[in-house]
Amino acid sequence: MSSDVVIFVCTSCKREGDAPDAPRAGAALGEAVAVAGPHRVQFVKCLSNCSRGPSAALVRPGGWSYVFGKLEVEGSPEALHEGAALLGASEDGTMPWNSRPDILKRQMIARIPPFDFTPAESAP
Ligand code: FES
Repeated sequence: MSSDVVIFVCTSCKREGDAPDAPRAGAALGEAVAVAGPHRVQFVKCLSNCSRGPSAALVRPGGWSYVFGKLEVEGSPEALHEGAALLGASEDGTMPWNSRPDILKRQMIARIPPFDFTPAESAP
């Protein structure tokens, strides 16, 4: 199921230990995410998570945003689309913790409240 969630993938990220002139791991991740599911994928040059890349973020209008790091071509693309579906379907604009893929639990870097956040709201 598609939703209005956008998956942003940094195509500049290197993997720790990669040679300076090695192909960018982020570019490979971006290509894999683009074909792994139905959500819109947007490539960006940097998510300011460079030391913990490859990096991606899930963004939903009116909802929380989530940044992830140390992603891999194997497994992460599908997990990002699964997380996007959960975020897009949630009534409170958060990604449910218990049902999200393990990758999106272990490798979450940050979560960012929506623009119109009020203290009465909460997020897991
Ligand atoms: S180069 Fe990918 S987050 Fe900065």
